Amino acid sequence: MKKYNLFTILLCCNFFTLSPLILSAQDARIVKRVDSVLRLMTLKEKIGQLNQYTGTEVTGPASDRKNTLLNDIRSGMVGSMLNVKGVKDTREIQAVALQSRLKIPLLFSLDVIHGYKTVFPVPLAEAASWNMDLIRQSAHISAKEASASGIHWTFAPMVDIARDPRWGRVMEGAGEDTYLGAQIAKARVYGFQGDRLGGIDGIMACAKHFAAYGAAFAGRDYNPVDMSEQMLHEVYLPPFKAAADAGVATFMNSFNTLNGVPATASVYLQRDILKGKWNYKGFVVSDWGSIREMIPWGYAGNLNEAAEFAMNAGSDMDMESSAYKQELEALIKAGKVKLSLLDDAVKRILYKKIELGLFDDPYKFSNVEREKQAMNDPQHALIARNVAEQSIILLKNEQHVLPIKGNQKIALIGPLVKAKADLASTWTVYADTASMTSVYEGLKHKFRNKSSISYAKGCDLNGNTTAGFEEAIQIAMASDLVIMVLGEAGDMSGEAKSRSNINLPGQQEALFDVVKATGKQVVVVVMGGRPLIFNHIAEKADAIIYAFWLGAEAGNALANVFSGEYNPSGKLPITFPRSVGQIPLFYNYLNTGRPVGNPKEIRYRSAYIDSPNSPQYAFGYGLSYTTFSYSDLKLSTKTLKKGEPLRVSIKLTNTGDVKGEEVVQLYLQDKVASLARPVKELKDFRKLMLNPGESQELTFTIGTDKLAFYKSGAGWITEPGVFKLMIGGSSDQTKLETEFTLQ
Ligand code: NOJ
Repeated sequence: MKKYNLFTILLCCNFFTLSPLILSAQDARIVKRVDSVLRLMTLKEKIGQLNQYTGTEVTGPASDRKNTLLNDIRSGMVGSMLNVKGVKDTREIQAVALQSRLKIPLLFSLDVIHGYKTVFPVPLAEAASWNMDLIRQSAHISAKEASASGIHWTFAPMVDIARDPRWGRVMEGAGEDTYLGAQIAKARVYGFQGDRLGGIDGIMACAKHFAAYGAAFAGRDYNPVDMSEQMLHEVYLPPFKAAADAGVATFMNSFNTLNGVPATASVYLQRDILKGKWNYKGFVVSDWGSIREMIPWGYAGNLNEAAEFAMNAGSDMDMESSAYKQELEALIKAGKVKLSLLDDAVKRILYKKIELGLFDDPYKFSNVEREKQAMNDPQHALIARNVAEQSIILLKNEQHVLPIKGNQKIALIGPLVKAKADLASTWTVYADTASMTSVYEGLKHKFRNKSSISYAKGCDLNGNTTAGFEEAIQIAMASDLVIMVLGEAGDMSGEAKSRSNINLPGQQEALFDVVKATGKQVVVVVMGGRPLIFNHIAEKADAIIYAFWLGAEAGNALANVFSGEYNPSGKLPITFPRSVGQIPLFYNYLNTGRPVGNPKEIRYRSAYIDSPNSPQYAFGYGLSYTTFSYSDLKLSTKTLKKGEPLRVSIKLTNTGDVKGEEVVQLYLQDKVASLARPVKELKDFRKLMLNPGESQELTFTIGTDKLAFYKSGAGWITEPGVFKLMIGGSSDQTKLETEFTLQ
C-alpha cells in the first residue's frame, strides 16, 4: 500500500533550506544555530528530540519507570516532557537534561486549557462572549502563570469545530461556527504566545486536533470521521489556518481517522496541506499514543509500520507511543524513512527551543519570584470575573423577572447551588476548588444587605431519589423568588465524556416541575460543558440563564448578573437542539429540495413528524436586559466587482432603559451556485456597548474572499451571482436583509 507521496515529502522539507535572505534576521540566526547543533548530533540524539513522555512519575517516588525516564533524559533521548510543572520540578528535571552530551534543554508542556492557577470559563463558555480581546487576555494570563512556573508549551487552543453536543469535548472548543472559531483561534494564539515567541510571559500554543476530530461519528470520542473534501476545507480547516497564520508554534494531530486514514498518518493533512500549501514552519506533535493506535485501527500491522507511517506523514514528535524511540533507528537504516525527514523534524523542534530562548537560559521560565507573583496577582481574578460575566447567556426573561428588584426573599434550590469543583469542570491544572466562588456564596455576598437567602439542594445531580423535593417546595413557598441551579456534573464533559442522552441528569427536571407548581417565579441557571436539553424548563421557567462552566469566579459573575450590575451579553456559540434525534443540528445547513415552508405543512417535506426542525435555541442567540433596534442598512454598491470590498453599514440603537452590549452578526447566503450553499453563514460580527437611547452606525467591510467556497479540484472560488445579506442579533432573527450581485 502506498501511503505517502515522495514528491510531497521532499517539497515539504524545503523550509530550512530556503535562502536566509528571505528569512528575517532573527530567523536566519536561529536557522544557523539549529544547523550547528544538528551537525553535532548522533542519529540516536536526533531521534531523542522527537520523544515526548508524561512526567507524573519522573518527579514522584522511586520506581522503575522513573529510573528509565531519568536515564533517557540524561542520555539525550527525550525532547519534551508533559505534565511536569512548577519551578521546583521543572528546574530539577531540566538539570537532568543538561547532564546529556549536548545539553539540549527539554520543552515542558501541559494542557493549560482554561487557566493555570486562575480558572477561567471553559473555552466554549468564553466563546459565548464573542469578545476577542477578553479571550486573548484570558489566554495571556494563563500563559503568564504557566510560564512563570516553568511551562513552555500548552496544548491549546483546541480549534475543532463541533456540531455534535453529545461529544464531550465540545467544551474545549469555540463551538460550531467556522468564522467565529477562526477569530477565537487567533485570539487564543496571540494570547498564549504574546507579541513574540520567546517573551517571558508567553508560551507556545498548539492548534489541535488536526484534523476534523470534532466530527467523530455519533459524537463518540475517538470515532472515525468520514467527510467530503469540500466540508473539510470549508468548515473544519479554516480555524487551523487562522492559527497557523497567527504564528501558532505547534500543531497536534488527532486520534480520528479521516476517510480511512489515521490523521497521524495523513500525508494529505500534514505534508500536503499544513507543511506544503500553508508553508507551516512549526512542528507537529502526535496526540497521546496516536502513533501506536494505528495498530488497533487496523492501519499498521505493528509499531514499526506505525512509526514509519507517522514519520513519513509529518508527525514530528511522538507523544507517549515510544514508537520513534523503538523503531526509528531501524527504519532509517532500512531506508524506509529518509534521514532528511528526520533532520527536518529535529530542526523544527530545535528551532522552537532556540526561539524560546532555552539554549541561552534553559531555566529562563522557571523563576520562584515570578511564580509567586504571577500566582497571586489579584488582577487575574478580576479579569476572570469579567470573562465569566461576558460568557453568561440570558435565554429567557419573562416579565423582566431579572435583574432582581428590591428586597426579596430568595430561595436557592438545586444540586449545583453550592457546587465548586464542578465550576472548574475538566482540564484544570491547579483548580483550588476551595477558593472558587459558588453561586450560593456569590449571591449571599451580593445580596447580604438586601435579601434573605434560603437553600435546599432538592435532589442529587444524578440519581433517582426525590426525598429532597419536599424541603425544596417548602422554601420555595416561603420565598418571593426561586433561583434554581441545575445542570450536568463538571466531569461529564471533556475527553472521553460523550453522552448519548444530553438531558439534565437524574431528577432535576422533575424537581423543577414541583417547584414551579408552587406558583412562584422561577429563574433557572443551567450549567454544563455542552448544550443540554431541558424542554420543560425552556417552556415554563420565568427566566433562564445558561452558564456553561464559568470557572473560579462563577458565583460572583452570576451574582452581578442577578443584581443587574452586569447586563448579560453572551450569545450562543453552538445550537441547542430540542432532542438528541435532531443531532447534528447547526445553523448553516443546506436548504434541501423540500424545505419546510409553513411548519404545519410538513407532508413530503424535509421534516420530522414528531418535532419541529428548528432548534430550542439558535446559534448566535442571547438576550439582554435592554433591547436593540436595527435600521438604516446601506450598501456601498449593489453590484460588486471581484476584488472590490463591499461596505455595509447599519444603525444600532439601544431602545431599552439600561446600558447594554449587543453582538451584531452579519450573515451571507450565496443564492445560486455550482454547489448548493448553506442558508446562511456568519461572515463578520461586532460587539458594542450602547447607553439607553444611544445609536451608533457600524460599518462592515466584506472582501470578495468572504464570498468564496471550496470546490474539489478547483480550490477556493467565487462565482458571480446574487448574494443575500442578513444582519441581526441571532442567526434566526436577522432583522435587516438585502441582496447584492457579484459581477
Ligand atoms: C489527549 C488529548 O486528546 C489531547 O488534547 C491532550 O493535549 C493530550 N491528551 C495530552 O494530555
